[in-house]
Amino acid sequence: MAGNNAFGNLNICMRTSSTVILACILASALQIFLFSPISPDLLQLPQPSSAALLTNKKLQEVAKIGEGLLDKPEDVCFDGEGILYTATRDGWIKRLHRNGSWEDWRLIGGGSLIGVTPTRTGGIIVCDIEKGLLKVGEDGVSILTSHVNGSKIKFRCLKYWLEGERKGRTETFIDNLPGGPDNVNLAPDGSFWIALIKVTSDGFEFVHTSKALKHLLATFPKLFQLVKGSHKKASVVKVAADGKIIDKFDDPNGKVISFVTSALEFEDYLYLGSLNTNFIGILPLKAA
Ligand SMILES: *[C@@H]1O[C@H](CO)[C@@H](O)[C@H](O)[C@H]1NC(C)=O
Ligand SMILES: *[C@@H]1O[C@H](CO)[C@@H](O)[C@H](O)[C@H]1NC(C)=O
Repeated sequence: MAGNNAFGNLNICMRTSSTVILACILASALQIFLFSPISPDLLQLPQPSSAALLTNKKLQEVAKIGEGLLDKPEDVCFDGEGILYTATRDGWIKRLHRNGSWEDWRLIGGGSLIGVTPTRTGGIIVCDIEKGLLKVGEDGVSILTSHVNGSKIKFRCLKYWLEGERKGRTETFIDNLPGGPDNVNLAPDGSFWIALIKVTSDGFEFVHTSKALKHLLATFPKLFQLVKGSHKKASVVKVAADGKIIDKFDDPNGKVISFVTSALEFEDYLYLGSLNTNFIGILPLKAA
């Protein structure tokens, strides 16, 4: 799978960071849009395609691991020994040993660590939106790539995402997803787990279809809080290789977990990273 070669790692990491960057850009775009006279374009959001997409509360069943220790753990990965790694907003790579104890493993600093992925040779690669790709191992931290073709990697991140989009690698998924896809992880059965970022709150999608409403929002920015969805809910879908959604897990009002950014299956459990929690969510996948 993608973790098996440097290019795959790069891609995943870039996709991860680009999502965050895209979110930032979206946020800034919306900011600008709120404070200036606007001429809005309309956005057609995809319609949910099947009953599998009905909103449920399965994500409210998550158990919390590392609660209080993990500041917005965006992504999760496991190494070959089953040790879990995550990067937190306080600049740490933290890991969970199989015996259940957490270790503050490596301090990198900054607030911009996001995607993590294991390497074949041990250790992990972490994507730092500021610094680039960092290899983190027993012998310390080294910068793998900070520039690609003379461009700072954060710029490339965006470009990769756009290229990916254009190339349509995830296009088949995007067609019928009820949100913007974040991290994509391969499941053991060959399907994919995809975390969805809700840009718009449920029931407010219609604002994208009306210029008048957009102008209204532009005039009363506070209304925007009502419409903004990412911090109020979480959605994860399992998508078959043919693009069909085969399972869906939601926390429709963010009661237990919200802003889920990654979903990784490991030994029959689903691990959920989030940019709005102080824990990693964990959900048993076999008969509950
Ligand atoms: C758990 O395992 C780690 C790594 O082997 C070790 O450093 C730590 O002391 C262990 N903790 C407990 C409570 O056994
Ligand atoms: C870097 O530039 C070369 C030549 O312009 C191009 O062929 C290559 O695809 C670029 N690499 C990346 C990762 O963009």
